[in-house]
Amino acid sequence: MKSIAKKNVVLIGFMGTGKTEVGKLLAVALNRRLVDTDEQIEAAEGRTINEIFASDGEVYFRRKEAEVIADLCRQTGLVLSTGGGCVINLENVRNLRENGYVIWLDATIEELKRRLAGDNKRPLLAKNKDFTALYRQRAELYRQAAHVRIDTTGKSPLAVSEEIIAFLQKDA
Ligand code: S3P
Repeated sequence: MKSIAKKNVVLIGFMGTGKTEVGKLLAVALNRRLVDTDEQIEAAEGRTINEIFASDGEVYFRRKEAEVIADLCRQTGLVLSTGGGCVINLENVRNLRENGYVIWLDATIEELKRRLAGDNKRPLLAKNKDFTALYRQRAELYRQAAHVRIDTTGKSPLAVSEEIIAFLQKDA
């Protein structure tokens, strides 16, 4: 994997595509540090994503998200797990691509609905009754942002992580 050098490996994708779980496995396999942008925001703010959305709204959250991403993209050699909405800001996309391989984790809408059933940590799920419309809007943005798309439907996080490593070895 000589050619991937120290570029970051960046996971993007809709809520429930497994970015955090896959990120953990990938970081171990590549012997890299995993940084999850949502966790960074929560740590910096000292409150949960739900609390941030409830008190200060989505615009405030997006500003914090952009700051965290800009900061992390100045570093190298990371595995970065991002929040599902980061691609709506094109500056985030530019930053992530500048110094990283951007991997889009995807799954069918049916599978995402199954994985997210009962979730109460994601404010946008509560707000968006039309899950399918949100997914469709986002899918185009993921497509434009990513170097590669990996379908995670029916696959374990380990299988997905192995697929990413194969991509990095072959194509990156
Ligand atoms: C969001 C996804 C969440 C989190 C926030 C907003 C989104 O991250 O950043 O709730 O806009 O899709 P996950 O994709 O890790 O759930």
